[in-house]
Amino acid sequence: MLTFPVLAPDLIHEFIPGSSERTLLLLHGTGGSERDLIPLGRELDPTATLLSPRGQVLENGMPRFFRRLAEGVFDLDDLKKRTHELADFVVGSTRHYKLAANRIVAVGYSNGANIAASMLLLRPEILRAAILFRAMVPFAPDKLPHLSLVRVWIGAGNEDPIIPPSEAQRLVQLLRSAGADVTIRFLNAAHGLTNSEIEIAREWLGTKWRPGESSNRNQKAT
Ligand code: MLT
Repeated sequence: MLTFPVLAPDLIHEFIPGSSERTLLLLHGTGGSERDLIPLGRELDPTATLLSPRGQVLENGMPRFFRRLAEGVFDLDDLKKRTHELADFVVGSTRHYKLAANRIVAVGYSNGANIAASMLLLRPEILRAAILFRAMVPFAPDKLPHLSLVRVWIGAGNEDPIIPPSEAQRLVQLLRSAGADVTIRFLNAAHGLTNSEIEIAREWLGTKWRPGESSNRNQKAT
């Protein structure tokens, strides 16, 4: 498998070409790197192109996608600024690598899932679908985006000490009120990922979202 660690455009990232039109935008958790979710991406879809940036913020040396003031308390100005930077990076990468702009699926874990949720709220045109492992409401938007063309799968841990199930439910309600098609699964798990939920997410992606396949609502293929 060929991998190209490159600096352009904008963020340090890994780019791994695939054989289908779908691109998985891989967003790691706190302390991760652009390498972290490559195996997860391949497991979720062996044919997809993988685009995996590194979070630009350092917290005690650990990369993150935005600053926080405390556990679960976000620096909202920084979150919004970094969300736009990440969205611009996706737009730039789409042009640079000639990706299908309507086939971008975010796959985020924890901090990466939170910035993916923030991107759905602030830049709803970027993502066609998102798989969010251990996500919470990143902020309460003043105005709801239009997400009726977007499908989201959320994996929440019943025993998650960082993101309680009620917080995952709040995210579901927020995204549904914006029109998104949201599926949530509660796992008997804590904050760490489990093999069983990866398998469930893989099936969701494979059955509902095969590249080129139209869904029951037109234009939703990813
Ligand atoms: C966050 O800061 O995004 C969440 O608290 C998850 C984490 O990174 O621990």
